[in-house]
Amino acid sequence: MMQMLRCLGLCTLMVAGLPGAYGVAQDMSLLDLHPSQYADHPVMETLPSDLALQYFMAWVLFASATSPGDGTAENPLVPSWMSWPTDLDTFPKSGDPDFTFGKPVKAGLDAVVAKETLAALEVGDACAAEVEVVARNRISYDYLVSNRLYTQSGVAAYLADNDIEMPNGAYEIKGVFVPLTAYTDLQGETCPPVEDVARYDDAFHYVAGDGARFAWAGMHIMVKLQPTPEDLLNSEAVSWFWTTFEYAANPGLANIRKLNNTRDTTPPGLIGAVQAHFGLSGTPLENYSPNGVQVSFTRDESAVILGHSMLEDFAGGTVHMLNKAAAESDVRVEPEDFTFFASSCHSCHAVASVNPENANQEGFAFPMPLVIGPVAQAVQDDLAQAYRQVDFMWPIPFQARAE
Ligand code: HEC
Repeated sequence: MMQMLRCLGLCTLMVAGLPGAYGVAQDMSLLDLHPSQYADHPVMETLPSDLALQYFMAWVLFASATSPGDGTAENPLVPSWMSWPTDLDTFPKSGDPDFTFGKPVKAGLDAVVAKETLAALEVGDACAAEVEVVARNRISYDYLVSNRLYTQSGVAAYLADNDIEMPNGAYEIKGVFVPLTAYTDLQGETCPPVEDVARYDDAFHYVAGDGARFAWAGMHIMVKLQPTPEDLLNSEAVSWFWTTFEYAANPGLANIRKLNNTRDTTPPGLIGAVQAHFGLSGTPLENYSPNGVQVSFTRDESAVILGHSMLEDFAGGTVHMLNKAAAESDVRVEPEDFTFFASSCHSCHAVASVNPENANQEGFAFPMPLVIGPVAQAVQDDLAQAYRQVDFMWPIPFQARAE
């Protein structure tokens, strides 16, 4: 096995003799393409079966969204995705979305309600230990807004004549932040900081307008690479690319990575080249790495397990979490003690669907299930009764407002 990292003006990584990996020179020109251009790129031919390429892609997609954007006095360095429209900008509580692109980062985090609370899997604690923020790029925002998918009536009207099909190059992000100082939560309550503040010393810190300080604990990324297959519930064809990145010192991370069933083998030199290209080197934005990658339900006929220690903490335990009775009897354990992790991005998001007949009333969103691997026939039967898939986009069922 021979590997060489060369940086001769234009960086080119040559990897020879890695079966199924890279094959030809790994093309650093991918870094200059927008993901909307990947669909026609030869890279898509090898991506489905090439884990090393998937990890390389994860680094590129992470670094391009994290590349520092316009800062402010309080936040001189911010990942660019933090200046993208959030769920609140895309799905406003009233009126039409009117986000202005190109503005510096906001003076506050647009928190969303955690999905386990949305799905009523558990009662949301006041003062949750973390703050989640959903953001999307312009390709994604424009599609949702121009098709009026921000109200339930708009979704139903669109589905009467069309399927929902997000455009190639759409980016969806869910960032997670830990409070380092007291902060005001969604209910307006004053909440305490996390206990172990020093653990987050090397993370990227964001300072809100009211002075509250947060550490960035990582983010989910989904990027649309190719058109969605017609039978998305039963197809292994690549459409969305999934990855999740964590801050290196997050509690329980080593155990979560053991339960996520792939390992990152990207050579450190290549990671460094990607980070340098996007301006992350020498900043706290360097201290993040992926738990895994996913492009379909299974890999080598096994369910792909992929989740984040904070964003999917409801999906792990010491019992088989897909056995509801056992899961409910399990004492809540911390991620470092999980022995089972029922998290799969592609599987759970495949089920995202709405019942258009129930727009503006109970029962619009299909209830979020815990699923890994192929979607079980029983779930598919429930879906077939009245629901329409929304191209893996869970915010549509949960955030489009009733009116
Ligand atoms: C058990 C189900 C489930 C799992 C597993 C899951 N998600 Fe999600 N995800 C959701 C739901 C529900 C929402 C919408 C919550 C909301 O409206 O804020 C969501 C929101 C998101 C968002 C923000 C908005 C959007 O477009 O959906 C991203 C990005 C995302 N998830 C990516 C991932 C990634 C990457 C993984 C795997 C590492 C993952 N998710 C695992 C259910 C899941």
